[in-house]
Amino acid sequence: MQATMQLVETVNDLKKWRHAKSGRVGFVPTMGALHEGHMSLVRRARQECDSVIVSIFVNPLQFGPLEDLNKYPRPLEKDLELCRSESVDLVFHPSVEEMYTPGGSETTKVVPPTALTSKLCGTFRPGHFTGVATVVLKLFNMVEPTVAYFGEKDYQQLMVIRKMVADLNIPVEIVGVPTSRDKNGLALSSRNVYLNDEQRLLAPELHSILSKVKDETLNKGVSLKYSLARHRELIRQLPGTELQYLEACDADTLAELEEARLPMVILVAAKLGEVRLIDNLVVRE
Ligand code: PAF
Repeated sequence: MQATMQLVETVNDLKKWRHAKSGRVGFVPTMGALHEGHMSLVRRARQECDSVIVSIFVNPLQFGPLEDLNKYPRPLEKDLELCRSESVDLVFHPSVEEMYTPGGSETTKVVPPTALTSKLCGTFRPGHFTGVATVVLKLFNMVEPTVAYFGEKDYQQLMVIRKMVADLNIPVEIVGVPTSRDKNGLALSSRNVYLNDEQRLLAPELHSILSKVKDETLNKGVSLKYSLARHRELIRQLPGTELQYLEACDADTLAELEEARLPMVILVAAKLGEVRLIDNLVVRE
């Protein structure tokens, strides 16, 4: 018979549970509003580990002052139901006060290297990756997982976490899981719920443009510079769309590429009205 899923809100209760466990502990950190993308991480953890912990915490430290912290979706009951349906063992759902001792922004922070954060999303979200690295390290120290699972949709985030784990000798294996998509190609994201009908029709264009850049530059001999410039223009012409970036980088270092070559990741961020969407396409041998 399957054990009941635990819901814990304090670090003490989490530690008690954790220290009674042996074997591989898989960890899926989330900000809730769970969807099939998160569930693919949970399923992977379930296959590879003896216990699975999901955290649900909307981390204020990674939101800028003008971003959507207050209106970020928080459908806790639905999230718990989804976790139960995938046989998660424990959900850690701390309050902001539990995670951050009084002092708020004065907390000690983990600052990832500028080479990784001064580009792409980092340009548009100053301080974001410091907020992410800080909360992920705190969660790792609380959960003590054997292995942690992150979606490749947040590719720059995944690179920042891999670098932090390597640089700070953190004993956690990091697994990147390919992006889950709607049938029309749209990358699944908690923010997709904000899209109106018209934006929902436009949003899959981002994925199709990534595929076109890949195809033109790797299969048809079109120069990377030309292909990116042309597709940036096409995105700018989509109604109500503000392009933030369309870039191609080395998939292992995130160094910007002058010419198409493997391993390559093509990354895009654009705002459809107020909704900021990101996506990427990784091409390896
Ligand atoms: O990817 C996310 O949902 C968040 O950035 C993470 C990793 C849970 C940290 O808050």
